[in-house]
Amino acid sequence: MLVALFLLNLFIIYITITSFKYFWNRRRLYKLASQIPGHNGLPIVGILPKYLKIDKKEFFSSTFDMMDPNATLTKIWVGPKLMLLTEDPDVIHTVFNSTNCINKPDIFYHALTVINGLLPLSGPRYLEHRRILNKSFMLTTLQKIQPIIEAKCNRMIKKLEGNVNKELDIMDFVGACALESFGEAQFGYSSDLYGFEGHKIIKESLEFGLDRVTQPWLHYLPEFIFKMTEINKKIDKVISFCIKYKAKVTETYNQKKVEDYDSVKHRVIDVLLNSENNLSDIEIRDELIMFTIGSYDTTAKTVSFLIFLTAMHPDVQSKLIDEIDSICGTEDNLALTIEFFKKFEYMEMVIKETMRLFPVGPSVARTNDAEIEIGGFLIPKDSIFLMSLMRMHRNPKYWGHDAHLFKPERFAGELRNSRSFAPFTGGKRLCIGTDHVL
Ligand code: HEM
Repeated sequence: MLVALFLLNLFIIYITITSFKYFWNRRRLYKLASQIPGHNGLPIVGILPKYLKIDKKEFFSSTFDMMDPNATLTKIWVGPKLMLLTEDPDVIHTVFNSTNCINKPDIFYHALTVINGLLPLSGPRYLEHRRILNKSFMLTTLQKIQPIIEAKCNRMIKKLEGNVNKELDIMDFVGACALESFGEAQFGYSSDLYGFEGHKIIKESLEFGLDRVTQPWLHYLPEFIFKMTEINKKIDKVISFCIKYKAKVTETYNQKKVEDYDSVKHRVIDVLLNSENNLSDIEIRDELIMFTIGSYDTTAKTVSFLIFLTAMHPDVQSKLIDEIDSICGTEDNLALTIEFFKKFEYMEMVIKETMRLFPVGPSVARTNDAEIEIGGFLIPKDSIFLMSLMRMHRNPKYWGHDAHLFKPERFAGELRNSRSFAPFTGGKRLCIGTDHVL
């Protein structure tokens, strides 16, 4: 009995000392956080219990609903992590451009599974990957891949012609076209991707990625427990697909390298497999998958939304057709150069207005590796900035009372607030595919 009491005492002392040390080490964090408006939630778990009650589709909207409309930043505690919510263009711009906010928070980006890909990477490996991959996105490379994209678009149009007057999911066509274009242009590899089984796997992986992001407590599970979850089984399926995919892409590349090196030179696959760049097998696999999913999801969704919006706005559609007719005339063999595309001014406005209303990255996050001043507050190191591009893009304060309407003409002149439009984010982590798209 005495021994038991002694052990219990020891345990209580241990817990007290550990807790004291924990809170003492975090005293600066709590002091700075106390000056930021927001919600503390419960001790230790913060607002995590709130997420148990909501549907995953409402994760981001209900998180951003907690924002204080009069503050530039609102704090919430997600477990032990301080998270700062914002839709303020100046704050978002400052975060994007700060050299202390280049890293991505694991709690969101490690949910993407391919953690060695450019999108979720942080630290020195991120800078190294970005440096070497930038080579594949220079305008000279883009100019060279133009004929591939043209051929793949023509292929999609032919497929669509066989479906006139039928109900269809446009995303299946645009998605296959995006996958084929990017695969052929940047990996030198593409098969017939209409009805492709990997298409389904990509959709599933996006789905479970969202499952993980919207259940932040999964991040705190010990590895061996996470391994037993349903999500982990799905991850294993995707990883084994990725391994086969990498093998196929590498085999095709090695063949092309011998037969016609110019067709793959400086492309993403060439850069990834170049031994001078010293990337590990897992890094190469994750980049391949990340680029495949990244280029598919973003381009296909944006084009699908564009088709949907122009179908709902016949006036915009006929203006677009007029512009295309006036520039292309009856000529069949047009030289589709970057200079040529610059003539489509109205088209550019329609694309931008689509991305304003439906940004494919509606919310993005960063973390700061040092204490910094942002939005009038001193922000503790290792906080998470969760920024709503969607809310910023639709906020009447920056876009006027008709912010909710589809009006491409708003991009005709100067914007009321140019910082409030950031579909590709900004700063050092600006989307690497920006020039591919616009
Ligand atoms: C409409 C088309 C696209 C849009 C709206 C778009 C948007 C974005 C956004 C918002 C991010 C930042 C995500 C974040 O910080 O969490 C991003 C990053 C990225 N995007 Fe895109 N994207 C598009 C097309 C593409 C394409 C075609 C590619 C590939 C060729 C691509 C590759 C990437 C990569 C690799 C990153 C990570 C960049 C880094 O962190 O350094 N994107 N994109």
